[in-house]
Amino acid sequence: MIYLVLAHPYPSQSRAGKVLLDAVRELPGLEVCSLYDRYPDFDIDVAAEQAALSRADLVVWLHPVFWYSVPALLKHWFDKVLSHGWAYGDGAAALRGKDCLWVATTGGTPQAYSAAGIHERSFADFTPPLEETARFCGMNWLAPFIVHGAHDIDGEELSGQARQLRQRLEAWLAAHAGKAGPPP
Ligand SMILES: Cc1cc2nc3c(=O)[nH]c(=O)nc-3n(C[C@H](O)[C@H](O)[C@H](O)COP(=O)(O)O)c2cc1C
Repeated sequence: MIYLVLAHPYPSQSRAGKVLLDAVRELPGLEVCSLYDRYPDFDIDVAAEQAALSRADLVVWLHPVFWYSVPALLKHWFDKVLSHGWAYGDGAAALRGKDCLWVATTGGTPQAYSAAGIHERSFADFTPPLEETARFCGMNWLAPFIVHGAHDIDGEELSGQARQLRQRLEAWLAAHAGKAGPPP
């Protein structure tokens, strides 16, 4: 029901992303695919990914922000899995109506993502490519869940953010309970 695509090149070195993932990975009906563990050679199993997406009602992309964007393997996943005739194009409807939640961690603090900060722009300025990727495939773009200042945030605050993410997904699950697919 929830397909969580994790794109961290070094999952064992992740701090912020790992705390977020650990908070949600046991939720019922949540399937996790750690892209860099599963496809270290970038040889993505497109059919398996599309099958997982077809089963899902909510797609979650979870990753650290790299150069204002996604890690390379998630970009490659977009290129291969969100294919013409399946995800977009005439008559393509595989993802239409599914929800999409972007969960990202950034090194930059909220202050850094401001006109006066080192990144000179608000973080919202960097979201359109992801948002339009989801929308172009007919998905509903949910309010992103972004954890800023991933290197500086203390453990307690990070745990609080992780709880909030879990509550977001629990609320989503509660709202969609009973709306599962066809009976067995
Ligand atoms: C190659 C690379 C590029 C990065 N680019 C950005 C960036 O554009 N903006 C930013 O705020 N942080 C950037 N960072 C910092 C990461 O987002 C940060 O290390 C990560 O979110 C921490 O999460 P983790 O503890 O799960 O690894 C970058 C880090 C690396 C290694």
